[in-house]
Amino acid sequence: MEQKIRKFADLILESKNIIALTGAGMSTESGIPDFRSPGTGLWERMDPSFADISYFKNNPTRFYQQMLEMGLNIIKAKPHAGHKALTRLQKLGKLEGIITQNIDGLHIRARTKNIAEMHGNIREAVCMKCSQIYPITTLVNQVFNGKLTPECTECGGVLKVNAVFFGEMLPEKALVKADELISNCDLMIILGSSLTVMPVSFMPYRALTNDNNAKLVIINREKTNMDRQCLVVIHDSIADVLPKIVDLVEKELKNK
Ligand SMILES: NC(=O)c1ccc[n+]([C@@H]2O[C@H](COP(=O)([O-])OP(=O)(O)OC[C@H]3O[C@@H](n4cnc5c(N)ncnc54)[C@H](O)[C@@H]3O)[C@@H](O)[C@H]2O)c1
Ligand SMILES: [Zn+2]
Repeated sequence: MEQKIRKFADLILESKNIIALTGAGMSTESGIPDFRSPGTGLWERMDPSFADISYFKNNPTRFYQQMLEMGLNIIKAKPHAGHKALTRLQKLGKLEGIITQNIDGLHIRARTKNIAEMHGNIREAVCMKCSQIYPITTLVNQVFNGKLTPECTECGGVLKVNAVFFGEMLPEKALVKADELISNCDLMIILGSSLTVMPVSFMPYRALTNDNNAKLVIINREKTNMDRQCLVVIHDSIADVLPKIVDLVEKELKNK
């Protein structure tokens, strides 16, 4: 392990344009379950159709009855040592930005800058009719006051949490930002993703074949299909390992 951490840190020190690609495994140590971890992943307990836009549209009240508790759990979660390590890396000039599949906003709450949230976020609510954006509290307050189909105060349309459901388009701004980050990077750090959900699953290939032939490194508890393409593969906890790597980088940069 020591050797892998050393090599990981060396690659960061050698690289000029570094980005991170994060998935649900980035947030499990903040108490938010991922989808596919054996034993704890949400898909073992929850029907995936709950995350389908047609399920929401057919009966928003039923959705909020079933999902409010999980949503509040995500809103209450706090960034862990791994999120903070990424912010530290950015302050050291060694992280351009992050592409994330997570909707929990924990990278933003850890004050990392330049984030492409591919699946939206749960900080906000959006009106299904006029697309007006509200802070999530507008939605939550209505639900708590018994209005289980929360409404837009402008047009009366139904308010949806501003995360991307199955069957919805990905936000264009995030797609553009992700494209820019991937085109320019020379190192992609993959953190906590099974790399099975499109288009994120394809992004490491795009980095490998960009103008810089970017290098890949990964920290993920389980194996992924991309492990063979990664120069360092660590099957361990992000909150444990990533701060150690950033410590080494910081030490080296200070000794320069
Ligand atoms: N926090 C969130 O916002 C959240 C939570 C659940 C699901 N999702 C959504 O679920 C989809 C799932 O795809 P995915 O690839 O992101 O997740 P996934 O559930 O498919 O895979 C998560 C991976 O992370 C690894 N992992 C879990 N905890 C880890 C830890 N502490 N350290 C290192 N590795 C760890 C697991 O081994 C697994 O391979 C995404 O579309 C995402 O939008 C988001
Ligand atoms: Zn509206």
